[in-house]
Amino acid sequence: MDVRAASVVLFCLMGFTFAVPVKYLDCGSTSGKVAVVDINPCLNDPCQLHKGQSYSVNVTFNSAVESQTSKAVVHGIVAGVPVPFPLDNDDGCKCGIQCPIKQQDYNYVTSLPVKSIYPSMKLVVKWELKDDGENDLFCIEFPVQIVG
Ligand SMILES: *[C@@H]1O[C@H](CO)[C@@H](O)[C@H](O)[C@H]1NC(C)=O
Repeated sequence: MDVRAASVVLFCLMGFTFAVPVKYLDCGSTSGKVAVVDINPCLNDPCQLHKGQSYSVNVTFNSAVESQTSKAVVHGIVAGVPVPFPLDNDDGCKCGIQCPIKQQDYNYVTSLPVKSIYPSMKLVVKWELKDDGENDLFCIEFPVQIVG
């Protein structure tokens, strides 16, 4: 392998080693616009979530509305069926967002604990943050893989 090929390989490896923005699908952010979704650590595509570990979730979005409250609703979509995923803390105003919400940029930051009782499988996580009117400040879907 010549030096150039080696540096290309090294560069690619580095690209995978550092946290990269998660590829997500917007599932109807009517009250806002998503800029970046970050899950840490997430070294693979899709993110591999190890049982017993906790992951930080950081969604950068811009709110198009004013809202007193924000409430997170999470589902795991397994074989096309959305299964409610209860959060310990579903209050977005306690997750990096200063309420009342104004028309500006926000970072929604929370942790996602992956319990050891979860089955090993691939699924799609649907994460919504709802405003006063039950509309989505953001709605994102991203694939994950739960591993042992
Ligand atoms: C969340 O992401 C934004 C944009 O990438 C960054 O500026 C901010 O520092 C992050 N916040 C945390 C707590 O990681």
